[in-house]
Amino acid sequence: MATLHLGQILSFDGSPFDEGHDAVWHERRGGLAVEDGKVLALGPADAMRASHPQAEVVDHGEGLILPGFVDAHAHYPQTGMIASWGKRLIDWLNHYTFPEEMRFADPAYARDVAARYLDLLLAHGTTSVCSYCTIHPASVDALFEAAEARGMRVFAGRTCMDRDTAPEGLRDTAQSAYDESLALLRRWHGTGRASYVITPRFSPTSTVAQLEALGALWAEHPDCLMQTHLSEQTDEIAWVKSLYPSARDYLDTYEAHGLLGAGGLYGHAIHLEPRERDRLREVGAALVHCPTSNTFIGSGLFDMDGLTKEGQVIGLATDTGGGSSFSMLRTMAAAYEIAQLRHRPLHASELLWLATQGSARALRCDDRIGNLAPGMEADFVVLDLASTPAIAQRVAQADTIWEAVFPTIMMGDDRAVDSTWVAGRKAAPLG
Ligand code: GUN
Ligand code: ZN
Repeated sequence: MATLHLGQILSFDGSPFDEGHDAVWHERRGGLAVEDGKVLALGPADAMRASHPQAEVVDHGEGLILPGFVDAHAHYPQTGMIASWGKRLIDWLNHYTFPEEMRFADPAYARDVAARYLDLLLAHGTTSVCSYCTIHPASVDALFEAAEARGMRVFAGRTCMDRDTAPEGLRDTAQSAYDESLALLRRWHGTGRASYVITPRFSPTSTVAQLEALGALWAEHPDCLMQTHLSEQTDEIAWVKSLYPSARDYLDTYEAHGLLGAGGLYGHAIHLEPRERDRLREVGAALVHCPTSNTFIGSGLFDMDGLTKEGQVIGLATDTGGGSSFSMLRTMAAAYEIAQLRHRPLHASELLWLATQGSARALRCDDRIGNLAPGMEADFVVLDLASTPAIAQRVAQADTIWEAVFPTIMMGDDRAVDSTWVAGRKAAPLG
């Protein structure tokens, strides 16, 4: 039987970066009909009631129904060390990140964190994520099993590192990275809503042999995504140059070994050379903007304006736990602030699009998630646009949907998430 959700509704007819705010459909009193985990139809509430007279009605009142947020780059194993003080990228990895990732040698610990992490995401309105795991295959099983239990569409892969720049205990070999990634890919890719992502951490922690082995794996499984990091900090770029003296630039360390392509997700991508930008655009690779991480670890200011204007594919992400939040609202706020520092105020419609359709497009899944349209998977969030006294007093003066939603983008957190729905089922809050 169908369920009819009533409330304000917002969905996208196109990208606000290309078509402005006209690309957004907003209905002050709308209805979203859902059946068997998919969107059946949406439109004005009265018309939807008339066309779906048998449907069970869930009235969200003034709540704003949006596509569920899609986080295009995160490290679920870093949940327990988020907001660790005072280091920049390389020291931060060695001091905080790698010791925490070692703990995932214990499958019970991995299961505990995976469940906690996904529950945090749902409480923050995020319905899909693309996450790194650790080197331990059980860390991948733990995340996909927790996602399966919650019905979530999740993208993830075993993080591969075989260079002696990574610590003993978190190192594999080129061959074991290939073999264990392949076994996990066979177990999980396309199982329910799971997608396996080939995951070399980044060039500084892989040998050429490992990059080549994972490039070969990707060529054998081109329907998989591949995720890695690119040009996050200037010290990191200098390090890559010293480790790969014959590479033309950082991207070339991937390109030369079969790790540049349309299904490639390149996290951060801040300090890019013109050649790198050209190649990323030519192949249609995705750049993933991680704004709370880029300020927290002190990495730099992503060139959203220039990169969108030149037609790059861009997703938005928390980068938990280099990022300082699980919230895509907080992440949109940081994206706004970084763009302001580069003199380009992003519009609320652009921020919401990046956090939903933009990230879904980066994950090559925008025909299924990240929007509300007939036939799409019914992953959505209901936002309370007056969730705190500070936001409520500002919204009282709002004349348009954009004025009403922007304070929640800038000042909102999980208190603004009234409920989260995954494949048509309520996923948060439960009980
Ligand atoms: N580069 C390589 N690994 C990582 C990571 O875990 N977090 C961030 N922010 N950058 C990285
Ligand atoms: Zn990352």
